[in-house]
Amino acid sequence: MVASAGSVGFLYDGGLTGEQRAALERLDDLGWGAEAVAFEQVPGDSTNGATSGSRVADRFDVLWWHRDTVGSRQPLAGVAGLLDTYIVEGGSVLLTGAAMAAVDALGVETVGPDVVGPAGTDEATGLLWRSLYDDHPVASAAVSLRIPIREGGTPAVARYEGILPARGEILASTVRGGADVPKEMQVVSWREGAGTVLGVGAGLVFDGPGAGAFAEARDAVLRGCLQGLTGGYEHPGRPHEAADLAAMRRQLAGDPQQPSYHLTPPANWLNDPNGLLRYDGRYHVFYQYNPGGPFHNTMHWGHAVSDDLVTWTDEPVALSPSPEGPDRDGCWSGCAVNDGGTPAILYTGGNGRRQLPCLATAGGERLCRWEKHPDNPVIEAPPADLDLLETDHWAAEFRDHTVWREGDTWHQLIGTGLADAGGAVLHYTGETLTDWRYEGPLLVGDWEGAGAVWECPELLDLGGTELLHVSDYESVRYFLGERRNGRFRVERRGTLDHGDFYAPQSLRDGDRWLTWGWLKEARDVSAQWDAGWSGALSLPRELSLGPDGRLRQRPAAELRRLREGDLDLPDSLALGAGERDRFDAGSRALELDLEVRLDDAESVELSVFESPDGSERTPITYSRDGTLTVDRAAASADDRSFGGTQRMGVTPYDGPLSLRVFLDGSVVELFANERHCLTSRVYPTDAASTRFSLTARDGRATVSSLGGWTMGEAFADGTENWQCSAHR
Ligand code: FRU
Repeated sequence: MVASAGSVGFLYDGGLTGEQRAALERLDDLGWGAEAVAFEQVPGDSTNGATSGSRVADRFDVLWWHRDTVGSRQPLAGVAGLLDTYIVEGGSVLLTGAAMAAVDALGVETVGPDVVGPAGTDEATGLLWRSLYDDHPVASAAVSLRIPIREGGTPAVARYEGILPARGEILASTVRGGADVPKEMQVVSWREGAGTVLGVGAGLVFDGPGAGAFAEARDAVLRGCLQGLTGGYEHPGRPHEAADLAAMRRQLAGDPQQPSYHLTPPANWLNDPNGLLRYDGRYHVFYQYNPGGPFHNTMHWGHAVSDDLVTWTDEPVALSPSPEGPDRDGCWSGCAVNDGGTPAILYTGGNGRRQLPCLATAGGERLCRWEKHPDNPVIEAPPADLDLLETDHWAAEFRDHTVWREGDTWHQLIGTGLADAGGAVLHYTGETLTDWRYEGPLLVGDWEGAGAVWECPELLDLGGTELLHVSDYESVRYFLGERRNGRFRVERRGTLDHGDFYAPQSLRDGDRWLTWGWLKEARDVSAQWDAGWSGALSLPRELSLGPDGRLRQRPAAELRRLREGDLDLPDSLALGAGERDRFDAGSRALELDLEVRLDDAESVELSVFESPDGSERTPITYSRDGTLTVDRAAASADDRSFGGTQRMGVTPYDGPLSLRVFLDGSVVELFANERHCLTSRVYPTDAASTRFSLTARDGRATVSSLGGWTMGEAFADGTENWQCSAHR
């Protein structure tokens, strides 16, 4: 006889199914006192004198509804109300299988799961738990974040796939046939009043085929859920406040691969920088953000604010998809402008196979809330006279916006692809931000290798010459030239950064342009899942034109303020072939600043992120042929990270090569001669991979100047700078 672990009121609807009987028996075996409670009996409580769910609360520690059929029947309205009262007053409810679909009927959620039905395959299926919540009783009892629950089968399930719950927090997605499927989000927690609801939409199967080999793991999941609900585990609701974000960031702190002075999301997924704006003296950076986990899905706009460009504060999500709106499936990339004192953003709303521009204006001075325009989308359809590329996902590739004003006229560029030509940038004009006239394509990439689609176009006035850049899935191409008769005349072209840098966006700050790019991950989906975070932004770069008419890129001057400890390096070094000068910085957040002359050497190697035993190392090599390479073959002991070599031309110079090297957890961001950039993502696993060394090959070389600093942190853990929480 097992001592009772607690008591469960086992809800059912109509008669008990075979699966429900099996589940009830299992509860008994696991030592929980269980009693079947027909929904029809629940209102009986009120006829017995109780007007709320309190009678149920007296009798059970938790109510469990395990629903293995997908019928039209939701809990009767009266029952739903009673359950809601029970929850609000502090009750705990577990909803498994198709029962999770009833969260909206129960009043705990406004956006119900978008996939409900019998679903599955022959492959073993399980939960893919979020590392952010690895202290949950389900996950802490498991040996891995990947928790099997059944062998296969097609049980009734409910899950979120293309949308997120508005109030609930995702705890786990899906692992199937050994592969992570982050998009299938099937464990959700809600806090409603003083109570908690835990939804496990995954089919926990207790009867018939499917339960089989993983019965023990399934039982552990059930036990963990019940213990979590009854044992005082604080189930998270959807994080809304700056304090929640700070807690998330703290939870992931200590990961040596996480950048600390680059801009990162508090947890979860970040891609493109969006809506960069300086307003009321502050820098606002928004970014593509998925609150559901570290993978690309359900795009929202995350938000960070800074007074000085070096220290940042996480602010709550600024923009979320509206379940009934043209942005239902995501708020994709866009820009911000100041419209006569009112900040406004134009972004791409995704809905089904359509992507169209939407407008929102700031609902307050702190840019925490944005009011979406009632007539969104502000452009009804892509231009009819163009044959835009259609893909499996989109009826027409048509997205990402950059907007600026010339005199009384607004100009807008949108990225696209022409079916038989290639990537293109479309030009619109308008007197207001809601009325747009199509002017024609500004530039079409109709040459070989231009890419089929151009994303995130931007046009920067560099003083006489204009810079147009586009992201073509692979890299960021830039063109220098000018607009003439509605077309962009290209005089020079190049690549903005030769590494893991994508979809940049810029901010006009006084008389300079500041540009941030998305530093993509160079590791697979499961490594990102385990980390709990994905993506970083580059350092802000000042883009300008040199006297030679070529592009200059330098880190924003403010970044020098991040320098904390001086590494006390020799002022210069003579490098002889075969000798290696070694240093230990004791940190993975560093800036190294050096000037290198090859003398008669063939190359100079600066190897960074070296582990004490040398097994992890990332050599950066400057060669006589005028190339700079980053070799990632030995960068990480984790084979889930990409090992390829990245290379850029740095043109041989008579003078020394000046190199600014920013190292940050898993970022190597290189600026060569203030002209060329290469940003590499590498993932040393050893927290002590803090060493670096220098050597010359086939001859002698000189490091004519050398400086190094440990760097401060971008996100301080203080409440004083929070902007938004009190204003929501
Ligand atoms: C570029 C991009 C954009 C799109 C956004 C979606 O990385 O694909 O074209 O708006 O990301 O997150």
